[in-house]
Amino acid sequence: MKLNVAIGADHGGFELKQELVRRLSGSVDIVDKGAHEFDAHDDYPDYVMLVGRAVAEGEVDRGIIICGSGVGACVAANKIPGVRACVCHDTYSAHQGVEHDDQNVLCLGARVIGVEVATELTVAFLMARFTAEERHVRRLEKVAALEKEPQVVPEEVVAPPEFETEPELQIEYEEGEDENE
Ligand code: RB5
Repeated sequence: MKLNVAIGADHGGFELKQELVRRLSGSVDIVDKGAHEFDAHDDYPDYVMLVGRAVAEGEVDRGIIICGSGVGACVAANKIPGVRACVCHDTYSAHQGVEHDDQNVLCLGARVIGVEVATELTVAFLMARFTAEERHVRRLEKVAALEKEPQVVPEEVVAPPEFETEPELQIEYEEGEDENE
């Protein structure tokens, strides 16, 4: 039976998503949660929500979310109970995250990696299976418990400490104009 995989991307990941859908559609059942057309002003949490819920509710086996860096997608996806998402830009993490941590969502940054690396990471992620070894199950249960506990956020996390002096900037460069930021 083919794996069911939901995929989603904002404008930062749109082109890469289109290519991954094209490359993977013969091997896995892909559910494309959008964006379905390029929109320079769309927001990644909207697609994260669709992919993350599909994974958490069991509509699909795995999820892939692509934004510019993968970071925003990852932060947002991990807010959805049952989602275990990570940015993996190396193949070791892409399969080990599944084998040990039962990672069910792969986040990719289309401004960081190219399509060939993204394809290899995706294959490594999708081919991997959770080992269900006792120590990994025990750790996962502790992760799941974190999700259920009422979380107490220390005040210093809410209000980060103010620096007396600005950290010195060692490297300066001119940022390019990017209207899609
Ligand atoms: C959108 O320009 C960009 O901020 C977003 O795709 C992502 O990189 C966020 O983490």
